[in-house]
Amino acid sequence: MAERPYIVGNWKMNGTRTMLSEARAIDRAAQRYMKVEVALAPPATLIHAVHKEAEQIGIGAQDCHPGEFGAHTGDVSAAMVADAGAKFVILGHSERRGGHGESNALIKQKIESALAAGLRIILCCGEDLATRDAGSAEDFVVEQLTASLPDIADAAERLTVAYEPIWAIGTGRTAGAGDIAAMHEAIRALLVKTYGKQQGGEVRILYGGSVNSDNAREILAIGEVGGALVGGASLTAENFLGIVVGASEAMES
Ligand code: PGA
Repeated sequence: MAERPYIVGNWKMNGTRTMLSEARAIDRAAQRYMKVEVALAPPATLIHAVHKEAEQIGIGAQDCHPGEFGAHTGDVSAAMVADAGAKFVILGHSERRGGHGESNALIKQKIESALAAGLRIILCCGEDLATRDAGSAEDFVVEQLTASLPDIADAAERLTVAYEPIWAIGTGRTAGAGDIAAMHEAIRALLVKTYGKQQGGEVRILYGGSVNSDNAREILAIGEVGGALVGGASLTAENFLGIVVGASEAMES
């Protein structure tokens, strides 16, 4: 596991201002677990409000448009989410790829635009079940990342990769420890090839897909797993903090 595990909650399209109390509770409790880096990505409508509540945790966005501004009804730019208080943006999530037809090329453009706006990036990747069953999951993920990793020289410093097998998201199924380890090693090898040993070696690689307080410790103990991207279990402070505690304990053992 990484020196300081990174536990990121992705609220997806959940949350109105009534959920600010959960964000506050997560933030206050996170101050007791300084060995863990905790962050939340609320929906765009709540970024500013959660940012104002947060003293300890990082706040991010779940998407941004590749352009700087203009006639794009309903979209928000990287500069806009940064202005609202986001310090990072999740890009390439399978729900964006699947639900909005996002290609690797578009994701790469979004990454470059987000980096230009001063944001950090969590770049998601992951295969569907047919690809996993066909035995080509690693080739598929390496191809996804090769086509979307930014070419900018110092990008690695602001990059986190999240491996999220699509079939594990919101399903209660998690990938086996051996498969997670093999995938994370393949991703690490690509990062080292792209950014060099030092910088590519330091990029954190998260696991995501049905992570909860029962399985977090075990998953975080797998080599090259530097944290977790958490959907459903991040919606209440109680569930999310169970994962943070697990990560903190994993650091101590
Ligand atoms: P899940 O979602 O934890 O609900 O499976 C993870 C994600 O999509 O980031």
